[in-house]
Amino acid sequence: MCGIIGVVGSSDTLETLLEGLQRLEYRGYDSAGVALVRQGETWRARVATGTESVAALRIECKNAPGEFHSGIGHTRWATHGAPEAMNAHPHVDCSGNVAIIHNGIIENHGEIQEQLESRGHIFTSVTDSEVLAHLIEEFRDQGLELVEAVRQSLHTVRGAFALAAMDCTEPDVIVAARRISPLVVGTAPGVTYLASDVPAILDRATAFYAVNDDEIVRLGPEGFRAIDLEGSPVRLRQLQIDWDLETAEKGGNDDFMSKEINEQPEAIHATLLDRRRRDGSIIFDELRVSDEELRNVKRVVLVAAGTSHHAALVAKYAIERWARVSVEVDISSEYRYRDPIVEIGTLVIGVSQSGETIDTIQAAREAQRRGARVVAVSNIVDSSLAREADAVIYTRAGLEVSVASTKAFVAQVAALELLALRLAQLRTTMPPEDIDALFLGLNAVSAQVATCLERREHVRDVAKQLLGSHDFFFLGRHVGFPTAMEGALKLKELTYLHAEGYPAGELKHGPLALIEPGVVVVAVATDPAMHEKILSNLAEVKARGASVVAVATDDDEAIEAVADFVLRVPATEPMFTPMVDVVPLQLFAYYMATGLNRNVDRPRNLAKTVTVE
Ligand code: AGP
Repeated sequence: MCGIIGVVGSSDTLETLLEGLQRLEYRGYDSAGVALVRQGETWRARVATGTESVAALRIECKNAPGEFHSGIGHTRWATHGAPEAMNAHPHVDCSGNVAIIHNGIIENHGEIQEQLESRGHIFTSVTDSEVLAHLIEEFRDQGLELVEAVRQSLHTVRGAFALAAMDCTEPDVIVAARRISPLVVGTAPGVTYLASDVPAILDRATAFYAVNDDEIVRLGPEGFRAIDLEGSPVRLRQLQIDWDLETAEKGGNDDFMSKEINEQPEAIHATLLDRRRRDGSIIFDELRVSDEELRNVKRVVLVAAGTSHHAALVAKYAIERWARVSVEVDISSEYRYRDPIVEIGTLVIGVSQSGETIDTIQAAREAQRRGARVVAVSNIVDSSLAREADAVIYTRAGLEVSVASTKAFVAQVAALELLALRLAQLRTTMPPEDIDALFLGLNAVSAQVATCLERREHVRDVAKQLLGSHDFFFLGRHVGFPTAMEGALKLKELTYLHAEGYPAGELKHGPLALIEPGVVVVAVATDPAMHEKILSNLAEVKARGASVVAVATDDDEAIEAVADFVLRVPATEPMFTPMVDVVPLQLFAYYMATGLNRNVDRPRNLAKTVTVE
């Protein structure tokens, strides 16, 4: 997840770019750069400091030449290529005339680069994005206008992009395009802007427009015109923006938590992008553990805390079911105090959104000390856990600001289940066609999550009816159990009400004594194999006066007999249900918390990252 910005026709181009990049830093900050363009000259500055790159870029630009009325800027969240200056955007073509910035992933960048290099192009980075500069260069060399050169280039690439291109031989023009990654255009008298989102240009532009997938926009000082990939004119939808800056940084949402809940389809999509070769093999290009080692893994131990622990619990079911490897899941803060046994062939996976949770870092260190290979699953590039691990798999959920983790959870489950499929591939524990089917199913989860988000009003209504409740049980079986645990954690940390996640089968071994009128039982009831048992568990609690809320699939009629409230979700592969079923539970906790006037982004007593033991 990166941030892009551009301006044409400005009298303070550099300041516009730097201020905008500062507002885009939440999208990534391991490196940053700008390109200023005027007739015959493309001036570029790029820095990579890991954290304060935009501040460093401002210093780097102290000696920038004046009198540039157009330029583009980028702040990076590295997905391909280390966060070093050579990989920072903007990238240029062989001539140095064409400069591009890009947010997204060009899935077929490898084959494109090979073709371009065979035609003599010299690459200066190890990113996927640079192919765009050289593709545009080739079409410009054929005499095409910049907008046409970009349009032709986009017929070649697969994947996600929000990009902007400039060429100093066609000054005061920026050509931008979008597919999946967000992009907005802004206008003011005599100046036109583009950015990944509204906050970056909120205090400069006076009108804002959304760019849709496969739309290309040519920006000039006088305004813009838009076309589709076939070259036909399109009209951009104008956005009604009456936000102040703080609201804008939340994408128009009331708070970061609802923004991040809404970003879950993109978080899953981005995490799964570019993870499979044409031959079907699943790849983690940042994973530095050999196939041989993965093939010979004898045992997997997952260490994590909080929400990440719940994602790790889901991974246990997937790895054991698909790859037939035994899996243990430890709470990080417990792992190193239990004198763990680490044998040859033990793979320890540290799961952490921040990559800075000291409990998980210490657990990973203990595992390494005892001879285990450690893989980090982290959402922050170059986090401490990622740096210390032997290998890393990055989730690509983008920065998560709200203390309550939401989009990171679904991205972790997606990444871990993908790893489970990779292990199954290497150990040939499943037919390739079954792995392919699961991979495709995993990629369909984004849309199923989006469907759940469209049903938020019903969840809000259910929460409103239960606002006075004080005791909650969240129940689930199989992967529905970690999902229930996650739902309980969300409710606890957001509303400060008592909630417990429990295996549904355990209720009769004690907790059933707590069930009485006024207690709310929330059940995850979407797995067909567990459905009958869940129904009987719900009948038991209903008979004792509990109010029952059930997460159930659209086609489930039997649930109506045992549930007072039903939160409907699309049916999906049982192993994928945690990513789908968690959405109504997140929304339930959110609406209960807002109903109680809680601060959903900063709950009391908590911190986003727990760096103390
Ligand atoms: C989840 O909503 C909480 N904020 C908390 O449990 C969190 O998941 C936990 O502290 C682990 O954080 P990490 O993923 O950054 O390691």
